[in-house]
Amino acid sequence: MCGITAQVGPTDAADTLLTCLENLEYRGYDSAGIALSDESGLTINKSEGTVGDLRAGISSDTFDGGVGIGHTRWSTHGSPSDENAHPHTDCTGSIAVVHNGIIDNHEALRTELQSRGHEFTSDTDTEVIPHLVSERLEAGEDIEAAFRGAVRELDGSYAVAMIVSGEQRVFATRHGSPLVVGLGDRTQYLASDVPAFIEYTDRVIYLEDGDVAVVGPSGHHVTDQAGKPVDRSVETVDWEPEAAEKGGYDHYMLKEIQEQPTSLRQTLEGRIREESVSLESFPPGSFTDVSTVQFVACGTSYHAGLYGSHLLSEGGVPATTHLASEYAVYPPPIDEDTLVIAVTQSGETADTLEALRVAKEHGARTLAITNVVGSTAARESDDALLIRAGPEIGVAATKTFSSQVATLLLVANRLIEDVTGELLDGHLDRLESLRSLPSFVQTGLDTSQAPAVADQYLSDGHFFIGRGNGVPVALEAALKFKEITYEHAEGFPAGELKHGPLALVTADTPVFVVCTGRDASKLESAIREVQTRGAPVIAVAPRSMSDIIDTADETLTVPATHPDLVPILANVQLQLVAYHAAAKLDRAIDKPRNLAKSVTVE
Ligand code: F6R
Repeated sequence: MCGITAQVGPTDAADTLLTCLENLEYRGYDSAGIALSDESGLTINKSEGTVGDLRAGISSDTFDGGVGIGHTRWSTHGSPSDENAHPHTDCTGSIAVVHNGIIDNHEALRTELQSRGHEFTSDTDTEVIPHLVSERLEAGEDIEAAFRGAVRELDGSYAVAMIVSGEQRVFATRHGSPLVVGLGDRTQYLASDVPAFIEYTDRVIYLEDGDVAVVGPSGHHVTDQAGKPVDRSVETVDWEPEAAEKGGYDHYMLKEIQEQPTSLRQTLEGRIREESVSLESFPPGSFTDVSTVQFVACGTSYHAGLYGSHLLSEGGVPATTHLASEYAVYPPPIDEDTLVIAVTQSGETADTLEALRVAKEHGARTLAITNVVGSTAARESDDALLIRAGPEIGVAATKTFSSQVATLLLVANRLIEDVTGELLDGHLDRLESLRSLPSFVQTGLDTSQAPAVADQYLSDGHFFIGRGNGVPVALEAALKFKEITYEHAEGFPAGELKHGPLALVTADTPVFVVCTGRDASKLESAIREVQTRGAPVIAVAPRSMSDIIDTADETLTVPATHPDLVPILANVQLQLVAYHAAAKLDRAIDKPRNLAKSVTVE
């Protein structure tokens, strides 16, 4: 995820664009840049680092023009660096482009452009866009037609804004990534999200997929990709600038929970083909030398790892998951046929890095599954795979867990096929369901009863239980609950109840039962065990699990889908329960006491 913005007005573009980028920094902050246009041509300032770093390097009196574009980056193609920072230009330096999203066919486009003499200066997918436009301009097309033609060549998701030297207009389009026009009196704006320009105007136009907008100093027009005019209404938003930073939500955590359909779409983008998985640098056969997989991770990422090892074991690949802090000191047997997968959102968790180093010392092959390009885990591992969830600001991990699990589903697919030589039973069904996962998550969010359940069952002790692939969710739900409510919560496999925890169960112990579609009868006995002690039971289950739903006192239903995907849907409901309980208790949800987002000490 990145943030893009643009301004067309009489003056002050540099300062306004930098302010807009600061307001968008929650979308990415590993590098930033602006391109400004005046009669002398384009001026570009861009660098690795934050928008603050960029601002510090720009002298305010060097530029007085009113037209420009800006970008704050969260890397997906090419590590964070000055060269990879946006805006990107064509060979002549007269066309500058900023982009949020992923161009799936950028490699093919780049190869074709190179064969026609174009030279590239970055590793980004974005750079193909100004080159495509420039070819069309040279062929005699006008700018608008050239922009539309170039955009038609792109596959993937994108929001793009472009300026051309000598022009007082910004050309923009979107497909699968957000883009909003802001209408001021003498100045017009464009941005990935309203908070960017809310302090300048509250009149907005939400562009739709396929729209091409041309924004000038005194107006705008919108067409489809073929050039046919389309009508988009002007809306007035009633956000206070401060709330707008969080997209209108009270907390980043809630915003990030609600963002999961989008973040999952980004995770899966371009990675599911008709009948198979396509994973960047892992073509079929990438893992044929692997005999065992060991996941290492901490906290929420450890729970994602547990899900991963469960999936692999079911598919016939020997796999275990280890707490990184333990693994680093007491490693299990490791050899060169062992693949050690570090699951780490930040890529900077000291315990996980130490476990990775130990694995390398023992000769293992290593893979980092992370959200941050260029993070230490990504750099120190043999390979890295991005979960592409976009930046997560709330300390409690939410959307990154879902994207980790979705990424593990993809990796497991490749591993199972390579290691066992066979595809998983029902492999096509699972791929088909995975494709629909973002919309299932959206339905779960839209129909959730979690706020009422959180309110009704608030207590000072909560249990979360599950079986099989529901266990990681039970553990994760308990962690999330205690982390942000500061109330006691325990998560464990349902079968363990009778071996100890049952002693704690009273009528004041709400028990959340995660039911993913398997093991229904075993879960029913656990439900009866706690109900006999007076505890209220809240089932988190697909509507189709009628026996469980009938036995429970309350249900948080999730859309029915492949049982391997239900854990993600169930977890979203339990994220909401934790959030609403913490909100009721007025906790510091985004920054829980004593905790940090990235734990860089052992
Ligand atoms: C809990 C949470 C932590 C992290 C853990 C590992 O909500 O966020 O438990 O999951 O500190 O962090 P990463 O994934 O960055 O290695």
